[in-house]
Amino acid sequence: MTDWQNFHDSFFSNARVLVTGGAGFIGSHLAEALVRLNAKVVVLDDLSGGDRVNLEGFAAQAGDRLEFVEGSILDQPTLARCVAGCRYVFHQAALGSVPRSVAEPRLFNEVNTTGTLNVLEAARKAGVERVTFAASSSAYGDSETLPKIESMPPMPKSPYAATKLACEHLMRAYSASYGLDTAALRYFNIFGPRQNANSAYAAVIAAFAKALLESKNPIIFGDGTQSRDFTFVDNAVHANLLAARCAEPVRGQVVNIACGRRVDLNELAQIMAEVLGKPDLKPVYEAERAGDVKHSLADLTQARSVLGYEPIVDFRLGLAATAAWYRQAV
Ligand SMILES: NC(=O)c1ccc[n+]([C@@H]2O[C@H](COP(=O)([O-])OP(=O)(O)OC[C@H]3O[C@@H](n4cnc5c(N)ncnc54)[C@H](O)[C@@H]3O)[C@@H](O)[C@H]2O)c1
Repeated sequence: MTDWQNFHDSFFSNARVLVTGGAGFIGSHLAEALVRLNAKVVVLDDLSGGDRVNLEGFAAQAGDRLEFVEGSILDQPTLARCVAGCRYVFHQAALGSVPRSVAEPRLFNEVNTTGTLNVLEAARKAGVERVTFAASSSAYGDSETLPKIESMPPMPKSPYAATKLACEHLMRAYSASYGLDTAALRYFNIFGPRQNANSAYAAVIAAFAKALLESKNPIIFGDGTQSRDFTFVDNAVHANLLAARCAEPVRGQVVNIACGRRVDLNELAQIMAEVLGKPDLKPVYEAERAGDVKHSLADLTQARSVLGYEPIVDFRLGLAATAAWYRQAV
């Protein structure tokens, strides 16, 4: 829905870029925006969580400007092939579920942390200009203070959050040690079309949409007073493009990417039930999940000053677009 040319003009025209995890939710939106901006886009994804279907809507328009490689960031020769000749790497590939990371911490460390090290090594050797990294607001953990500011001490509560934090440090270290410029974008609860609603670990907006469209009551873990800074996916895409374009070195700085407004889950369930035409389907409550944080809200001062970022799609508009997509997809 966003006119990317309007925001980014011809900056990416003919630039070769790599999007790891590009067949996933956020990665596919990023790949699509880059295709629409005339970049030459390589997508590397092992399809463990993503799906080639996510590329179908723009693959035809892209023609040979979109190359899909099925492979893992744990496979170094494949990574080296994908990154050759790239100016930018948008590193989105990861395992994303907090509860699953509590069950399988070693796997998460391998894919998320070692995988990121592999991406940085490949990028450094290939002479990439900048790597942007999909960091996570989960790094803040449960500190009572709101909004979350990047200077706060991180307090990861789950193995997932710990891997994301480790990767932020790798971003900074690669910048300092090798002069490979990097940016760590701490996403806050990204939502939008193509977010997987079918996994046991589905994100809350996707899970609510699926339940409501199947005429089931949405499930809330906890009492529903927990709140999140829900952020429509185009804002995350925009932040990545701004980070790549930065005139000054970013040097691995951590930057919050969000809307700067929080909504609690009871309110979310009510709004979504209305938007999806199921106002009678009230949430049911189950036990709180291990590793979940209570509240989340971003301070965007750093995003504004480092990237010139402002959210370009607000929560309500994003939710309407997302609901419309789930209506035809579920
Ligand atoms: N969605 C959010 O709210 C959110 C919030 C904070 C951070 N993030 C981060 O953003 C990134 C994208 O998340 P998403 O929501 O689009 O999830 P997603 O699961 O849809 O996308 C991740 C993609 O990475 C791929 N992948 C996983 N392991 C891989 C490997 N070893 N090699 C290659 N590809 C691999 C998956 O197949 C998938 O397509 C992730 O790094 C995630 O941790 C997401």
